[in-house]
Amino acid sequence: MKKDSVTLIDNRTGKQVELDLLKPTCGPMTMDVRSLYKELGIFTYDPGFMATASCWSDITYLDGEKGILEYRGYPIEQLAEGSTYLETCYLLLHGELPSKEEYDEFEHSIKHHTMLHEQLLRFYSGFRRDSHPMAIMVGVVAALSAFYHDDEDIHDPQDRLAAAHRLIAKMPTIAAWSYRYAQGMPFVYPDNSLGFSENFLHMMFSMPTEKYTVDPLLAKALDVILILHADHEQNASTSTVRLAGSSQANPFAVIASGIASLWGPAHGGANEAVIKMLTEINESGKPLSSFIERAKDKNDRFRLMGFGHRVYKNHDPRAKIIREICHEMLAQDKCQNPVHQKLLDTAMELEKVALEDDYFKSRNLYPNVDFYSGIIFLGMGIPLNMFTVLFAVGRTVGWVSQWNEMMADPQSKIGRPRQLYTGAPTRDYVGIKKRS
Ligand code: CMC
Repeated sequence: MKKDSVTLIDNRTGKQVELDLLKPTCGPMTMDVRSLYKELGIFTYDPGFMATASCWSDITYLDGEKGILEYRGYPIEQLAEGSTYLETCYLLLHGELPSKEEYDEFEHSIKHHTMLHEQLLRFYSGFRRDSHPMAIMVGVVAALSAFYHDDEDIHDPQDRLAAAHRLIAKMPTIAAWSYRYAQGMPFVYPDNSLGFSENFLHMMFSMPTEKYTVDPLLAKALDVILILHADHEQNASTSTVRLAGSSQANPFAVIASGIASLWGPAHGGANEAVIKMLTEINESGKPLSSFIERAKDKNDRFRLMGFGHRVYKNHDPRAKIIREICHEMLAQDKCQNPVHQKLLDTAMELEKVALEDDYFKSRNLYPNVDFYSGIIFLGMGIPLNMFTVLFAVGRTVGWVSQWNEMMADPQSKIGRPRQLYTGAPTRDYVGIKKRS
């Protein structure tokens, strides 16, 4: 039987090299180019990793052509329907759904790691009140590395799990407190009697002076959104986490690097950018078509935020689920707000016009997860600059699971891409006095 391989011929020398094709559980065969440099003395060039698998992974599978997203083999639609965020965290971290006993133990551990060291509170006051909460989050999560460093052995699976639990548990506290700090409101400590999403809403919105009851509809919607954001294989922030972690750096510092990468508007910052764009459209008084034309104009930096995806060339399955939640929430009397309703109406119109436009059709540009999530967050009373923070809260489990997978792999190597050098060739240094 013929071996699954590809033979490359260097046309300059006629030298051949046979490269093995690695077979994934699902998805395209992957050419193993590791021997290429040794055999032919050449590198591969793939900026932005358009066709390069940077690692193997058992965690998440996505098929961008078919619009499939699965965590550990379970379709995202089924998890959104039947699971909870915390159960999904267990699944992503451990590879299997937990038994009742395993779940209880996991929940207990997460709930008992939600507090922050009191000393960490002082970090907040170092920030300006108008700091973006993502800036605070990057700083505070990185600061955790100072609290958990010398005692941690990243080569010990138990220590890695402890770091993972701490990060999943503390992220909502850090996130909610970055909002409270900006508002000049007292920090609210976690309440272990509440579920993961309920607790986040409690820390965001409750006041010491009044009893706060978490709205179960909002808690449920938030839980589903967190599930949808929990992992997305080797995206920019996850790849950042893997690269930073590959040098065996402190896990808290590593996750801070992931948060920094997520912040960009081409990645997790898009949910905030979508609302800004929809507001601009509504306030401009200009027809929608003028924005569509701007998005198509290569000389204009304006893009339709919440549209397009590097991998999904079909509907983003997360967007489909989130679109329904968005409609359900706005249909509820208590969530109705004319401004939010108008944003949703504009979003719906924009979606319709773009999906019928040849520019978007020919480039397979569909609404992504961020197109609707912002409207839901607004409906929950979550301010604009907290949207990406919530993405980070949800994605934390993905980052720690991917980091843990990489660290557990004995074959793991420090990430060190090569380059196609295009600078000056070797030349001699000339002293400043002799330079004309
Ligand atoms: N509006 C207008 N044109 C677009 C858009 C858009 N939102 N997205 C892509 N295009 C065009 C792009 O100009 C290019 O056109 P051409 O072939 O004529 O040069 C073509 O579509 C392919 O785009 P690309 O930039 O090569 O695609 P990419 O895979 O490098 O970028 C993306 C993917 C998500 C960065 C991009 O679609 C984008 O900037 N979208 C808006 C930001 C956004 O919504 N980001 C959230 C992504 S989902 C959340 C997450 O997982 O992070």
